[in-house]
Amino acid sequence: MVKTMEKFVVTPWEVKGEVNYDKLVKDFGTKKIDEKLLKRVERLTGKLHYMLRRGLFFSHRDFDIILNEYEKGQQFALYTGRGPSGQVHLGHLMPWIFTKYLQDKFGTELYFQMTDDEKFLFGQKEKLEETNKLAYENALDVIAVGFDPKKTFIFADTDYAKTLYPIAIKVARLTTFSTAKAVFGFKNESNIGSIFYPAMQAAPCFLPSILKGRNTRVLIPAAIDQDPYWRITRDVAPKLGFPKPAAIHSKFIPGLAEGGKMSASIPDSCIFTTDKPEDAKRKVMKAFTGGAATVEEQRKHGGKPEICSVFQYYAFLFEDDDKKLEERRNACKSGALLCGECKKELAERVAKFLKEHQKKREQAKKQLDKFVVKD
Ligand code: TYM
Repeated sequence: MVKTMEKFVVTPWEVKGEVNYDKLVKDFGTKKIDEKLLKRVERLTGKLHYMLRRGLFFSHRDFDIILNEYEKGQQFALYTGRGPSGQVHLGHLMPWIFTKYLQDKFGTELYFQMTDDEKFLFGQKEKLEETNKLAYENALDVIAVGFDPKKTFIFADTDYAKTLYPIAIKVARLTTFSTAKAVFGFKNESNIGSIFYPAMQAAPCFLPSILKGRNTRVLIPAAIDQDPYWRITRDVAPKLGFPKPAAIHSKFIPGLAEGGKMSASIPDSCIFTTDKPEDAKRKVMKAFTGGAATVEEQRKHGGKPEICSVFQYYAFLFEDDDKKLEERRNACKSGALLCGECKKELAERVAKFLKEHQKKREQAKKQLDKFVVKD
């Protein structure tokens, strides 16, 4: 279990407190994405994605090795996923938007895991039928992001078990309970399905190698909360004769309330892709900002964009122009831009985004068969 001494926690199940990302890089043993790596990606892809330019994707494991081999003509595969415990929120969309950029730029296949087993085993839903249904509901959001149907394979664990299970048991055989306990914090009371589950999330790391019949490196774009899975997978990879999976890690889009990650259990802290645009607007207008108590004070002293959830939403998803983002930051700090106005503009952008996303999500219903693979 990766708990740190400071007042924040990052595990695959819990993100709490003010995350110190530098400390996470140290504790997790990952590498920061540095200027040299950014220059390389820029050379290979043209203009850098704003999530790289702004350090929103900030850390990695072996991304440099992926690029070394790509430059030598070795294609890699992308792997990411979703735990279908409810509707998708904007935080989940962030790594998927970045994954689409990688698919477009590198022409890669994407393997997308829907962990209906995980969300049942860890008790987010009482019924397996429910998480399985949600897997296909959530797949509509994935498709709406715009992935290439010829190169994207979405699977729900319980419907693809015949393929995944033989890989998972090979991982499980090489992973002891004491390792799983140390990495994930399992207890004697943990159900045995949850203890096995990490082997299921490891399995797609080796799936492209198995399906293609030749070793294929996998790059996993996700927020850094999922990294503990890759740690155990990387340990067993050489023993199974596969390359270690590489990962590229993002920061977390904060909740609309003060501090912490978005939490699906606090509906007003996050915007779901299925929210009515009017409801989403209301959530934005109620959001925590870095504003002063009165208009006079704010005009005089300015706001604090660094602690403002509204500003973070611009930075993470709703302003891809760096110059405009800087203008907004400065206008806030100088007191020229007040929170009401800034929130109203964001609310409009969010509503527009949701309308478009929901249209694509509707169209995705007809495309589901092109993306889903089952046994
Ligand atoms: P899940 O459903 O919790 O999250 C799906 C993806 O969204 C990322 N994420 C966020 N990113 C930015 N800001 C946030 N506030 C935020 N909240 C969540 C997660 O890191 C993840 O990338 N066990 C996984 C499912 C899974 C998976 C994978 C995820 C299976 N295989 C491979 C990533 C890669 C889960 O429950 O994700």
